[in-house]
Amino acid sequence: MSNTVIVGAQWGDEGKGKIIDILSKDADYVVRYQGGNNAGHTVVVAGEEIILHLIPSGILHKNKICVIGNGVVIDPQALLDEIEYLRCRGIKVKNNLRISRNAHIIFPYHKILDKLREEKFRKTKIGTTGRGIGPCYTDKFARCGIRIADILNKKVFKEKLQCNMREKNEVFRRVYKHKTFSFRATYDQYLKFAKKIEPFVCDCAYLLNDALKAKKDILFEGAQGTHLDIDHGTYPFVTSSNATAGGACVGSGLGPAKIDKVIGVIKAYTTRVGEGPFPTEFSAQLLKQIRNRGKEFGATTGRPRRCGWFDAVIGRHAVIVNGIETIAVTKLDVLDMMPKIKICVGYKYKGKVFRHFPADIEILWKAKPIYEEWPGWMEDITRTKYFSKLPKNARKYLERLAQLLETRIEIISVGSERNQTIFI
Ligand code: IMP
Repeated sequence: MSNTVIVGAQWGDEGKGKIIDILSKDADYVVRYQGGNNAGHTVVVAGEEIILHLIPSGILHKNKICVIGNGVVIDPQALLDEIEYLRCRGIKVKNNLRISRNAHIIFPYHKILDKLREEKFRKTKIGTTGRGIGPCYTDKFARCGIRIADILNKKVFKEKLQCNMREKNEVFRRVYKHKTFSFRATYDQYLKFAKKIEPFVCDCAYLLNDALKAKKDILFEGAQGTHLDIDHGTYPFVTSSNATAGGACVGSGLGPAKIDKVIGVIKAYTTRVGEGPFPTEFSAQLLKQIRNRGKEFGATTGRPRRCGWFDAVIGRHAVIVNGIETIAVTKLDVLDMMPKIKICVGYKYKGKVFRHFPADIEILWKAKPIYEEWPGWMEDITRTKYFSKLPKNARKYLERLAQLLETRIEIISVGSERNQTIFI
């Protein structure tokens, strides 16, 4: 299968979980490289919905090594809960799960800071998942973060946590007028977590490079999406990691020349959770229709997702910044009963036409989409197995998407089950 990176080409929630699950079948290693339990990957197996937040979807297949790379931030409680959730469903989580020694850890103060910052800066609120992701990455880049390796060394952990908590408690007290955290309680709790996590710990870069030497195939599971990427997304309305394909190398310890292929996952329309510009966002009537048909509610927070037409400007941007070779178009069936379907091919702002993704946030907020209108197919495609059997208008729609994105469609998803998938 080769070493493949799967990335979301929109604002996350593209249906990556299902595509990763299908492709993991042919991989030996499945690796998460960024984000944390802000992600929610939904996989439907034999009618049962399984939602994963931290552990790679490969865990649902036998004989796969699932790796949480150094680029991921880990909330130990969430991790242990997820292991338990899987075990309760009869899914083995033992030496098939490996966790990088270099991954950073989320502490209770990160989660509180996440919420307090959102409340304090209401006007520029990001709409975070409140999982402490941003504050944890902030510490990582401020070089005061605490990694798995650190909590496994009592002395190092004690020094680092004391130092961090002195500073954080000062911020809680003075800036937010919030109650402070007790060092002892946090230290003891995280030492207990460390004991439980230790059996899974690995040296991720060595593990993966050895796997390559042994001719194993590695699948990289991107979380969130290109436009939530800290560098390439709709900054500042983004997450705090590199969700794009480049993040796979940095977040795992594998060199770029070892990546063979990048597959972009893109919904047949667009959704976004949280705040930030969304040029093709629907008005109330269409929103209700698509949100209900597509079950567009966040897998992590349950928040209703914002929905809109397919935006080829952001799609094309994703193709470029990720080096996407082929795409998987998901949720095509959600558009089954739409008599007319629009595709955004550019933006217009102050008389100027933008075909490229503009970095100026004001343009993104205020630009009017330039639409093409395509006839719908008005029939149920959820049982279709081959591209040639799709209604003519569905094929034309897909062909237009591929043309606009200058890429090839490899997979089409027409339902949430594994077998509702068309391979081209
Ligand atoms: P954070 O990652 O919790 O800091 O949230 C930052 C932004 O990314 C918010 O708009 C979230 O709604 C969004 N976000 C984070 N994770 C996901 C995801 O897995 N899917 C969709 N949006 C997400």
